[in-house]
Amino acid sequence: MTAKPIKTIGVFSSGGDAPGMNAAIRSVVRTAHYEGFNVIGIYGGYKGLLDENFKSLGPRSVANIIQRGGTILKSGRFLEFHEENIRKKAVNILNHHGIDALIGIGGNGTLAGLKALHDESHFPVIGLPGTIDNDIYGTDITIGFDTAVNTALEAIDRIRDTATSHDRLFIVEVMGHSAGHLALQVGLAGGAEEIFVPETQGAIEQTIHRIEQSVRSGKLASLLVIAEGYKGGGAYDLAKMLQEKLNLEARVCILGHIQRGGTPTAFDRTLASRLGAHGIKLVKTQTFGIMAGWTAGKECSVTLDQCLKENKTLNRDTLELARILST
Ligand code: F6P
Repeated sequence: MTAKPIKTIGVFSSGGDAPGMNAAIRSVVRTAHYEGFNVIGIYGGYKGLLDENFKSLGPRSVANIIQRGGTILKSGRFLEFHEENIRKKAVNILNHHGIDALIGIGGNGTLAGLKALHDESHFPVIGLPGTIDNDIYGTDITIGFDTAVNTALEAIDRIRDTATSHDRLFIVEVMGHSAGHLALQVGLAGGAEEIFVPETQGAIEQTIHRIEQSVRSGKLASLLVIAEGYKGGGAYDLAKMLQEKLNLEARVCILGHIQRGGTPTAFDRTLASRLGAHGIKLVKTQTFGIMAGWTAGKECSVTLDQCLKENKTLNRDTLELARILST
């Protein structure tokens, strides 16, 4: 069976936005145009698809966005897309509008939606990894992670100043969903005394003991980084525990959505530009059901199947290194 020729590509962003998504959209639109494809922007993620919120995009539509955070295509979470009948409806809409292939930018939820369309209806799909969490298997790094790390780091450096002036203990909570990649990177780069990640549970007693020792050894200001997904409790629970067990007063700072916004770093802009172009290359060669990822400093192609079957592991050596370096 010969593959259907692709003339028009739909592009959308979905899930939590991530800095660099705009650079990816720009790259998709412009490389597609260069290769002779038409592009239709789908506004508002999977919900926008169902609402037929479409607009044709040309090279000029994506001018002046490479440096902007967020996503011009808007984003969102649409739980109804877990239903097969909704996905069937989506495929009918895509066919009706003459959209022959779909490129989605987002995290695991976005990739799962694409995989379902591909598996059930053989619809040609490509995924681009865009999330500040960096929790997608098959790519060393996701679009938005580097910017989020730098944003959190800037905040941490500022907190360190006031912590030092007041000889205080601070607990800083970072995002990351149920993974600790963001916390680990931020903690290592920010010289955190302890890093609490969801991947290592149950070591809280040991950690409390280490904090006690560090205070006794004369460390008057300390900064602890905790991932929002840490299962042993949140930042406020940890502060309470330190107060009860060590009689230490800790201040809490939850960085929250600050980490999702802002100008993408040079790294995120180049990563997004290259992955967008790689996505179009995959469309050109009719290689679908794939995520355009990044491994060992260059583009790679990973099946959506594989991306979603495996969990990205946290680098335990780096966690240990952060510990050694904070003594
Ligand atoms: O996936 C990105 C992310 O920012 C996670 O780190 C966080 O858990 C979640 O999204 C927050 O989602 P929302 O903006 O819907 O509250």
